[in-house]
Amino acid sequence: MPCSPPTPFCSRIADSDASVLRSILTTESESFPRDWQFPDTAKYFQSLMVKPENCFICCYAGSAIVGHLVLVPLRAVKCELSKSDPQILALPDTAYYIETLAVRKRWRRRGVASSMLIEATGEVGKRHGQLLGMHARVSNGLNRLALHLFKGSIVVNYKIDRWPWTGNEESNFLAWTPPNRSSETT
Ligand SMILES: CC(C)(COP(=O)(O)OP(=O)(O)OC[C@H]1O[C@@H](n2cnc3c(N)ncnc32)[C@H](O)[C@@H]1OP(=O)(O)O)[C@@H](O)C(=O)NCCC(=O)NCCS
Repeated sequence: MPCSPPTPFCSRIADSDASVLRSILTTESESFPRDWQFPDTAKYFQSLMVKPENCFICCYAGSAIVGHLVLVPLRAVKCELSKSDPQILALPDTAYYIETLAVRKRWRRRGVASSMLIEATGEVGKRHGQLLGMHARVSNGLNRLALHLFKGSIVVNYKIDRWPWTGNEESNFLAWTPPNRSSETT
């Protein structure tokens, strides 16, 4: 009988770190088809890691990283995203955006993504961000998961029939308020 897995916990990675980068690249290649990834994924993640305004949240089981989530200020990606999603321009510049989120296959459906999403929401609150948003696919259950986790705090929710960044799959853009901002309007 398999023993129960260790409880993952989240920590933030502030600086560029080779072993963290390797783990992230492994999870990314296991999680997304090659043509959904940037041509030089390592360079892309390194460029994200060196910017202090970004936040890497990694989920560990022992010393192994089993999932990661990258938070970026929305203002840094808004212009690019708006080419496929013009509605995003209406969001405040103090919002944050989940650039990527992925979990090692054998660690899925154990609450790893949920714990990172909750950690990310707390981090946005600490940074006085007004909102936290992401494009969540329907096919992988992420849309349903976020709606369930943040019900009551979701302030933006619209459907995108074909999201070009993830294989033209149906996605929803969802944004929610961190705990200390729930009573404020967008
Ligand atoms: C989408 C993804 C990030 C979800 O990660 P995850 O760690 O499996 O997510 P969670 O475990 O927190 O939640 C997934 C489901 O498992 C359920 N779950 C959580 N803990 C559980 C447990 N201990 N036992 C059984 N089910 C559990 C959750 O309730 C949720 O159920 P739902 O599908 O009914 O909503 C993961 O599948 C993944 O990496 N996919 C490939 C990359 C990807 O698609 N990234 C997102 C880009 S849009």
